[in-house]
Amino acid sequence: MKFAIAGGTGAVGRHVAAAAQRAGHTPLVLSRGSGFDLMNVDGLADHLTGVDAVIDVSSPSTLSTKKILAFFGTVTGNLLTAERDAGVPHHVALSIIGAAAHRSGYYAGKALQEDLVTASGSTWSMLRTTQFHEFSQQTVNRGTLAGLLISPKMRTQPIAAADVAAELVRIAEGLPRDLEPDLAGPREEYIPDMVRKYARAVGKNNPLLAVPMPGAAGKAMRNGGLLPDPGSRTSSQTFDEWLTTTTEGIKS
Ligand SMILES: NC(=O)c1ccc[n+]([C@@H]2O[C@H](COP(=O)([O-])OP(=O)(O)OC[C@H]3O[C@@H](n4cnc5c(N)ncnc54)[C@H](OP(=O)(O)O)[C@@H]3O)[C@@H](O)[C@H]2O)c1
Repeated sequence: MKFAIAGGTGAVGRHVAAAAQRAGHTPLVLSRGSGFDLMNVDGLADHLTGVDAVIDVSSPSTLSTKKILAFFGTVTGNLLTAERDAGVPHHVALSIIGAAAHRSGYYAGKALQEDLVTASGSTWSMLRTTQFHEFSQQTVNRGTLAGLLISPKMRTQPIAAADVAAELVRIAEGLPRDLEPDLAGPREEYIPDMVRKYARAVGKNNPLLAVPMPGAAGKAMRNGGLLPDPGSRTSSQTFDEWLTTTTEGIKS
């Protein structure tokens, strides 16, 4: 099968592209690095001819809610329009558990994306997961402020991006099923602890400042409002297992 992967070079997208390839599919990566700016793209439908599913794992790199809303609104709209024009039969979206219920900050963008997909009249599937183990790596890679690592105060039940990717490829191989059952990692963690552990494992010993995020989403992040419902599906790789595998030999 042929899958177009929007954001196919990101934390989860690179695993989606690799998993698709391993399963014998043809991945087409849509990212700025591969010549597709999905905020402003002409002739996208021509590139989607013959594509069996578009898997959208794109994400903006901004903290501005206005820009986050503009990104998810525009990119989701551009993808759905081009898919309709090209006759792509399946749109696969990745969202975040709890985003639709706590519409502020980044989660407002995810809620908008969910609204656009579900109201599109297209044939779609949507998977909601928790934060990735890689969230710790992304936070450390953003650097320090006045020598401090900055982490949001947040309870989470994180999952390996590779496990999310495997599930997205499985979904794309099947028929559109609307909302999939939620998927989370095996156990609860505290994000500042994850960030500190990742930093130490790669040789960064800066002190860490855990900050409360603003708004309804920030409150939900702190009080467990973004945790999965009891009994939700879980994957098996723990954060500590992922950390060991990922950071072996990369101390800076
Ligand atoms: N990170 C998490 O913990 C987490 C948890 C659950 C769900 N999710 C969801 O998973 C998805 C991917 O997140 P991620 O953390 O993997 O993102 P990421 O690592 O930040 O990667 C973002 C991807 O989007 C691409 N991109 C950004 N702007 C673009 C544009 N204008 N046009 C085309 N491509 C663009 C980037 O490539 P270029 O820079 O080359 O354009 C990159 O491939 C998002 O929908 C996010 O909400 C993330």
